[in-house]
Amino acid sequence: MQPVSAIAHANIALIKYWGKAPGDGNLPATGSLSLTLDCFFTQTVIQKSNQDRFILNGIEQTGERLARVQAFLDLVRVKKIACEVISENHVPTQSGLASSASGFAALACAANQFFALGLDNRALSELARRGSGSAARSIFPGLARMHREGYAEGIDARKLDLNMLVVHCSNLEKQVDSRTAMNLTAQTSAYYPEWISSHQADLDDALKAVWHGDFKKLGELTEYSTLKMHASMLAARPAIWYFEPLSWAVMNAVRDWRRQGLQAYFTLDAGPHVKVLCQSNDVGVLKTGLEKIPGVLKVQHAKPGPGAYLLAGHSFREGRV
Ligand code: DP6
Repeated sequence: MQPVSAIAHANIALIKYWGKAPGDGNLPATGSLSLTLDCFFTQTVIQKSNQDRFILNGIEQTGERLARVQAFLDLVRVKKIACEVISENHVPTQSGLASSASGFAALACAANQFFALGLDNRALSELARRGSGSAARSIFPGLARMHREGYAEGIDARKLDLNMLVVHCSNLEKQVDSRTAMNLTAQTSAYYPEWISSHQADLDDALKAVWHGDFKKLGELTEYSTLKMHASMLAARPAIWYFEPLSWAVMNAVRDWRRQGLQAYFTLDAGPHVKVLCQSNDVGVLKTGLEKIPGVLKVQHAKPGPGAYLLAGHSFREGRV
């Protein structure tokens, strides 16, 4: 068995996934819609070994992180072949910037080739989902829709000019991982049932907006979905929030710029960083404005990125984080 190398890019959801369907298989309770980004990716090599190993950014992983990779490999490997998985994450890990999405999408893509599974993109997205729900969407370039049934598909976004400014608001790793937080929300939040029951309408409206090339509508729904998701977390017991004061400052600035006529819409995930959805013409002025907000560490401009793909060699690519 030859080593196999694959790359997958991170994605940021516009219409969020937050909560699982009952039962095994890591099925989402709702669909979702995301944008795969060109600036963040994971490269993963998988090869035969004498024992399972998972090396992330040059550091040997043990405990839960290794167990999660092993459980994923158990879904597809025959005769329990021991594997070494080497990943380089060009995404800050554990910070709400979707490193598990690109990580499991790259691993699924590499495993498909390594174990000669012959999966098409839909089946590959189902496999990636078993590792992390959001990973299913990173199989596809640009806009991707996740279905409640557990697979994702690419969505034609040619009528839209989509850009994202990723505003780094903290260097710290998050305290509560998204899986724990979404399960706690589902079990304890008074608003979780409302989040689930109102979700499909948001997704339908967002897909309509994409179809019509209606950037403003898509942006409004993006903000609405993230705020509803975070509101459901705030009502969990104990409450969960990922916002830092700086996150609020960025959100306020985005709303101010909108009042002044700029088209910009924010979204946040399980971390303090703010991502701003905007169009090419506004990137320059928004980036300059965001960089001037006191405390902002870095602003990265992302365009729609590629789907997961295999690499011919096994050398690791340089990337920007
Ligand atoms: C806030 O995909 O990390 O980023 O399926 O448990 O691995 P698991 O969860 P994960 O959750 C992502 C949550 C989110 C919203 C989103 O990406 O849709």
